Amino acid sequence: MVRIRSQREIALIEASNKIVARTLDMLEDQVKPGVSLLELDQLAEDFIRAQGAHPAFKGYMGYPSSLCISVDDEVVHGIPSDRMLAEGQIVGIDCGVEKDGYFGDSARTFAVGEVDPEKMRLMNITRESLYKGIEQARPGNYVSDIGHAVQSYVEAHGYSVVRELVGHGIGTELHEDPQVPNYGVPKQGYRLREGMCIAIEPMINAGKKDVYTAGDGWTVLTKDGRPSAHFEHTVAIETNGPRILSNGAANHG
Ligand code: MF3
Ligand code: CO
Repeated sequence: MVRIRSQREIALIEASNKIVARTLDMLEDQVKPGVSLLELDQLAEDFIRAQGAHPAFKGYMGYPSSLCISVDDEVVHGIPSDRMLAEGQIVGIDCGVEKDGYFGDSARTFAVGEVDPEKMRLMNITRESLYKGIEQARPGNYVSDIGHAVQSYVEAHGYSVVRELVGHGIGTELHEDPQVPNYGVPKQGYRLREGMCIAIEPMINAGKKDVYTAGDGWTVLTKDGRPSAHFEHTVAIETNGPRILSNGAANHG
């Protein structure tokens, strides 16, 4: 069931997303060689709880941590461990927050120190593909118009779209209907309406689209071992088009 949100509810969803955005802003300054993934997770959890909010991923389907942190060929759902970040890696950080019963969800991929131009390009194209998708999130358009925009843009640049994981409605649950794939043909399936809130989250591989899940039951990796990037925004569909609810302070993804 797709839910239509009132202005009051959208304000609450926005409030949770602002906490997510500020958490990601804070983490961006900590992403450097030598920091451990567990340290980042702890910083995020403390930061979120200090604002009277809860880390939405922790305990979700048994997930153990506040963040998903996915390095290089890890696509999404990497579990923070005592492993340290190293120069030249790219790191996807996905953060979810619940406050007053409403959810926020956003992800960005960061460079750790100096990163080779190929990885920079992958990050930039993935971020841009998110904005191509967001542009389509307007009343009267179809859910599949979003995925079509993402896929066309990404494939034109020689990259591939992960199929196994999708974006989603969001509001009083972290994951609601509809599913929002990052691929597809235009004008198929569900139609977007004013008051819907959705998380759009392209997961884009430098190489082939195929992925597998690690033995931990969570971490999704590329089969070919090449890097992957992930950006996500929560968006409200309003009369005049999309409004991003998870924007950070600066010119962040
Ligand atoms: N990152 C996912 C999303 O953006 C949700 C992760 S749930 C978790 O929708 F349990 F893996 F954390
Ligand atoms: Co999401």
